[in-house]
Amino acid sequence: MARVIVIASGKGGVGKTTIAANLGVCLGQAGRRTVLVDLDLGLRNIDVMLGLETVVLNHLGDYFEERMSAEEAATTDERYPGLSVLAAPQTMNPAGLEPGKLEKLIGELRETYDVILVDAPAGVGPVFAEAIRLADEGIVVTSPAVPAVRDADKVLHLMEAAGIQYRFVIVNLLRQRLLRSRVMMTPEDIQEVLGTPLLGVIPEDETALICCNTGVPAVTVRSMSGSALKRIAERVRGTALSLPPLNRRRGGLFRA
Ligand SMILES: Nc1ncnc2c1ncn2[C@@H]1O[C@H](COP(=O)(O)OP(=O)(O)O)[C@@H](O)[C@H]1O
Ligand SMILES: [Mg+2]
Repeated sequence: MARVIVIASGKGGVGKTTIAANLGVCLGQAGRRTVLVDLDLGLRNIDVMLGLETVVLNHLGDYFEERMSAEEAATTDERYPGLSVLAAPQTMNPAGLEPGKLEKLIGELRETYDVILVDAPAGVGPVFAEAIRLADEGIVVTSPAVPAVRDADKVLHLMEAAGIQYRFVIVNLLRQRLLRSRVMMTPEDIQEVLGTPLLGVIPEDETALICCNTGVPAVTVRSMSGSALKRIAERVRGTALSLPPLNRRRGGLFRA
């Protein structure tokens, strides 16, 4: 049975698209028929993260405006076996998304794919609301900054109210030095405040930033963020990996 997993956050810029893209690459490689749905309508990013800017010809707007089927609107590339990408249209106004169109799309994708990864827009607007209504599982991404965690809490409550039973948190952009100096919320603190299980912890590292700029997914190069993302993908696949050892002194966190 297909799984629809929505990746959301209150704040923008916390790594949703990075995580969605890397999870998509890993799950596709692992033999899951995976589709990435970029719902940041009007603000396409996912193609850049995967180095597909010159490859993407069609997009979700083509599907929503009934110019083509979902399959025709999707992009595949030999670098990413098992993965299809439904890029966001670059000019669409999200307010113009007609009722029922997203539901129809997700229904069709459920017939074809094992995993449908929905990269939600930041915030709690109507597209987000529709996405969580249609999803089975929710991953909320936050940085360790207090405002981001507070917004993550709000997003988690909305997911619960929308009937998403399986909800997880990823803490991204963790800075080891700040953690050690005790001026930053720890993943333990965040897990406790949010009352939601941690799916993983990703350090802030230059590689993730460079990867985004060069269109090379972090999971395909040696890096701390790449290793963390691979372990998160394993957990999404259902492998019972231990959660991050939240032991700051031994620096075990980032091997998680
Ligand atoms: N772990 C990380 N370390 C360093 N930079 C990161 C990390 N995760 C994401 N970034 C960078 O942060 C920026 C925002 O990430 P993005 O995935 O676009 O966030 P969102 O989709 O939530 O807006 C990008 O430039 C990305 O490369
Ligand atoms: Mg994004």
